[in-house]
Amino acid sequence: MWFLWLICLLLPNMIAGEDEKPPAQPNIIFILADDLGFNDVGFHGSADIPTPNIDALAYSGIILNRYYVAPICTPSRSALMTGKYPIHTGMQHTVLYAAEPRGLPLEEKILPQYLNELGYASHIAGKWHLGHWKLKYTPLYRGFSSHVGFWSGHQDYNDHTAVENNQWGLDMRNGTEVAYDLHGHYTTDVITDHSVKVIASHNATKGPLFLYVAHAACHSSNPYNPLPVPDNDVIKMAHIPHYKRRKFAAMVSKMDDSVGQIVDQLRKSNMLENSIIIFSSDNGGPAQGFNLNFASNYPLKGVKNTLWEGGVRAAGLMWSPLLKKSQRVSNQTMHIIDWLPTLLEAAGGPAAVANLSKQIDGQSIWRALVQDKASPRLNVLHNIDDIWGSAALSVGDWKLVKGTNYRGSWDGWYGPAGERNPRLYDWQMVARSRAGKALEALKMLPSQADQQRIRAAATVSCPAQSSKGTSCLATAFSAPCLFHIRDDPCEQYNLAKQ
Ligand SMILES: *[C@@H]1O[C@H](CO)[C@@H](O)[C@H](O)[C@H]1NC(C)=O
Ligand SMILES: *[C@@H]1O[C@H](CO)[C@@H](O)[C@H](O)[C@H]1NC(C)=O
Ligand SMILES: *[C@@H]1O[C@H](CO)[C@@H](O)[C@H](O)[C@H]1NC(C)=O
Ligand SMILES: *[C@@H]1O[C@H](CO)[C@@H](O)[C@H](O)[C@H]1NC(C)=O
Repeated sequence: MWFLWLICLLLPNMIAGEDEKPPAQPNIIFILADDLGFNDVGFHGSADIPTPNIDALAYSGIILNRYYVAPICTPSRSALMTGKYPIHTGMQHTVLYAAEPRGLPLEEKILPQYLNELGYASHIAGKWHLGHWKLKYTPLYRGFSSHVGFWSGHQDYNDHTAVENNQWGLDMRNGTEVAYDLHGHYTTDVITDHSVKVIASHNATKGPLFLYVAHAACHSSNPYNPLPVPDNDVIKMAHIPHYKRRKFAAMVSKMDDSVGQIVDQLRKSNMLENSIIIFSSDNGGPAQGFNLNFASNYPLKGVKNTLWEGGVRAAGLMWSPLLKKSQRVSNQTMHIIDWLPTLLEAAGGPAAVANLSKQIDGQSIWRALVQDKASPRLNVLHNIDDIWGSAALSVGDWKLVKGTNYRGSWDGWYGPAGERNPRLYDWQMVARSRAGKALEALKMLPSQADQQRIRAAATVSCPAQSSKGTSCLATAFSAPCLFHIRDDPCEQYNLAKQ
């Protein structure tokens, strides 16, 4: 018996070998913006909306430049949480309305439940939008230990009510309780406060943290005040001529400030060195009055809830000291369904995802991202909407688009290009931002010259007139269109005939 006991004592040391102690599991902070367009962050080439905190993470991490999401909220969030395409969970058609008796099916195991099994403590701040007609559909029943935020798709940022289909109700919760006391507290601040509190009170001896920060920003609010934001923040955006675009910019800027506060708290809590931070939009931007909002997807085609690149190609980045090859722009194809296996592999190694591929659609991109290798994702199913008859599929650089969701109304190019002169982009602001300072302290912020190079590489431009191809609009109702996305990211030249 004694020698068995001896082997047990020695075994852990033998396995660890000469190596240093195995790295601790990383904290995972997933920040999801709502309705943010491709052109609404500084790192894609716009000098209009100051997003220095997000940009600091982008330049020191990996800018995901071929990163796809679902075209609208509920499908996108269901894909993030399950690792499955929305057509496989019944979530593919439009959103859950607040009074609908429907939700993400309970038999689906979701991201916090997977991570909890690996020892994580999971929390959510902000928007849920995956069902609440019975309590068991809500976050605390599906793996999250705390939730301060709302269950439906949008709300007023001050009174926290949602107006939808002739119904009007209050939707702000602390756990399962209605949070009447938060009345008048700006939603972005409520979400930031809970996030900061969760990080500050996190006890690492109880395992790593998974924090899902699902902002309301910059989704529009109710018709009586579609773009609520304090006047003091609007004044700072005086350089933007269009008044509603200016208000939208102020909402984005408040969210950027929230990102800075979260990074700063991770630094103060000594958690930043061992964290993965993801910033992503949930879908393309609603531009030019779509949903009463004024995002911009320039130069991409279409808007939120369309299958054009402007609807599904999202602003996104991943930041972590664990990424060996960061400070770069990635062309590695990735879809929002890939986060679940990617993060599980980061959290639990290859064994944690070994048996998943048969159950989900997502693929782990973790090693490809860490080592800058080819992405295993070759195809992206953008959606199949059986009710509207629209669908889109990318295979390598080719994309097939069938049908239209708005009978041609939103199948063009929208949203202002805005100021794009790199000399008018405030480089000092990046280093001075909270996130910039925290990353500088870790010696992870690249030089300004490198930031300029990275930003230029992340700027998408449309090719000049091509003799090949025709406009898709003429045929959209009768035949599918085919685009070569690498050469024609703006989907100007339908090559179906060729
Ligand atoms: C939510 O409830 C908890 C427990 O009662 C309380 O400690 C916390 O302060 C509340 N949070 C907010 C934002 O009201
Ligand atoms: C963290 O949890 C451990 C174990 O429960 C406890 O001993 C320790 O005091 C906690 N630390 C803090 C800062 O609360
Ligand atoms: C990414 O793709 C763009 C467009 O095809 C190309 O210009 C750029 O060189 C590529 N970057 C990398 C790192 O492969
Ligand atoms: C994966 O599946 C194999 C074969 O069914 C099984 O032996 C193994 O325990 C599974 N691994 C995990 C991590 O579930």
